[in-house]
Amino acid sequence: MCGIVGYIGNKEAFFVIIKGLKLLEYRGYDSAGVALQNGTLEVYKKKGKVAELEAFVMEQKHDGAIGIGHTRWATHGEPNDMNAHPHTSMHGLFTIVHNGIIENYAKLKTDLTEQGYVFSSQTDTEVLANLIEFIYRQDEAINAEMAVQLALSKVVGAYGIAVLCSAENDKMIVARKGSPLVVGLGNGEYFVASDASPIIEFTNQVVYLNDEDIAVIKRDSFTLKNVRNTPVSLKISHLNLEIGELEKGGFEHFMLKEIHEQPRTIEETFRGRLRSDESEIVLGGLINIFPKIVKAERIIIIGCGTSWHAALIGEYLLEEYAQIPVEVEYASEFRYRKPVIRPTDVVILISQSGETADTLAALHLAKEKGATVLGICNVVGSTLARETDAGVFTHAGVEIGVASTKAFTAQVTVLTMFALKLARERKTISAEDYSLLVRELSQIPEKGRLILQSNDKIKAIAEKYKDAVNALYLGRGYLFPVALEGALKLKEISYIHAEGYAAGEMKHGPIALVDDNLPVIVVAPQDDYYEKIVSNIQEVKARRGNVIAIVTEGDKVLKEMVTDFIEIPASHPAVAPLLTVIPLQLLAYHIALMKGCNVDQPRNLAKSVTVE
Ligand code: AGP
Repeated sequence: MCGIVGYIGNKEAFFVIIKGLKLLEYRGYDSAGVALQNGTLEVYKKKGKVAELEAFVMEQKHDGAIGIGHTRWATHGEPNDMNAHPHTSMHGLFTIVHNGIIENYAKLKTDLTEQGYVFSSQTDTEVLANLIEFIYRQDEAINAEMAVQLALSKVVGAYGIAVLCSAENDKMIVARKGSPLVVGLGNGEYFVASDASPIIEFTNQVVYLNDEDIAVIKRDSFTLKNVRNTPVSLKISHLNLEIGELEKGGFEHFMLKEIHEQPRTIEETFRGRLRSDESEIVLGGLINIFPKIVKAERIIIIGCGTSWHAALIGEYLLEEYAQIPVEVEYASEFRYRKPVIRPTDVVILISQSGETADTLAALHLAKEKGATVLGICNVVGSTLARETDAGVFTHAGVEIGVASTKAFTAQVTVLTMFALKLARERKTISAEDYSLLVRELSQIPEKGRLILQSNDKIKAIAEKYKDAVNALYLGRGYLFPVALEGALKLKEISYIHAEGYAAGEMKHGPIALVDDNLPVIVVAPQDDYYEKIVSNIQEVKARRGNVIAIVTEGDKVLKEMVTDFIEIPASHPAVAPLLTVIPLQLLAYHIALMKGCNVDQPRNLAKSVTVE
């Protein structure tokens, strides 16, 4: 939800931190701040984006080789200068940046107020800063890291923190529980960040902190233990991220770049897994656990937002081909509604970031109940990747745009391979159908490249509908989740209210919305539902609705019938989601751009929702 960067070494900390915060801005961009240790601790923070903070600090004293920085997605306290991080304790001893939520902050704040503490912000983070200071001042034998440790033992909630102490100004203390933190190991210097992207430019040696880890970092030492004071074994990972992945590569926005990357990223997702000789699909992360999956009596697929839409497609694939009962759940519902979970269940958690709080909570609940838990995730080293029994990485590369695109098609690609593999193991698919679907999947990247060539036509359609106030997306079968995804894309980046619906449901209510002001986007390739979806389109047209249809190329019937159309290559219905979603991504992108919206960083959103 927020982005944290820290540096301790021999460079000018400010420039390392600011560049890192810009790479983390997708995690939140309500306000930003930096604290620099240069004999005194200088704190600069303000509402707005990192670039505004940078301009502000450049006019001030900004030297110092130790520092911490933060870009915020507001939880407690509105976005303003005072609530921006870093927060400094009342007597100036501790300065802290924090990602997460301290659930018992109100009680802690009351206790500290009774001890004479005065607060200048509405944040839970300032409470933690003062708690650390209060403990530190109780006893000279307590050093900075002990004070942090003792304070965290009183905290209920999630945190990823970096702390500087003005009385012990040669060190940085970092700790995590529920919010990710990565430490980059340099030569006489260390980097701390919420994910690896600010670190890769400087080192590919990293340590992912686990829950309740706490580290004390000096220029020449890195000491790791946990809040219960027991030693923690140091596991150094090697990053294979390329810095180029973090740049826009000539595209105007990360989202557009990531839409256009999809043919390649889908190839990356099935590289080494989907064999062109149509032999067995290899999902390396599941090899040891697959016998257990084959025997599952039920599969529960859980996610949020776009990941939940991918889960729905997974349900259709698994039930049709592997003939196994599947349930799809919103993580935020599943974790609280006291669901029935059996040890014979396989629970699949889908998350691009691997840090979504609701999804992680669902993971923990399923594990407690003894289910086999698998992850489908895009971030190596993420909490989900490390806490599931096994899983499959989507290999979509870093996804910076807040609106998920290439991660979605990568998730669906993994689910398609998983369903085919399971169907083959369970002998519920014929050899012919298996080979056909493997071939169809392998042809998706090339067909996707053809669709991307319709960019200008889609842009022209966007021009016609950019002033719409509402929009309705319809689809059937595998394309009902695509309709939901298309609606989510439009609403989250253009702020136009959009609803996705099963086309068959339209006559049960939504058709009352139809008039000549309501664009109705219909995902209507030639498949088993074609005649029915044509009837739905006629029902809309009969009420003067404007229909924009995604059609199979050469479909003369619909091209005559609808107001606007976008043609896509023919494909098997089971892989059609991977193609039909691309025009919907581009439509949302162009409409949002024409409306002057911030496509990569839409208002009120963040890329990774690591709080409830
Ligand atoms: C999708 O465009 C949104 N950014 C959002 O719905 C996202 O899919 C959701 O927050 C889940 O994120 P995750 O996949 O990282 O868990």
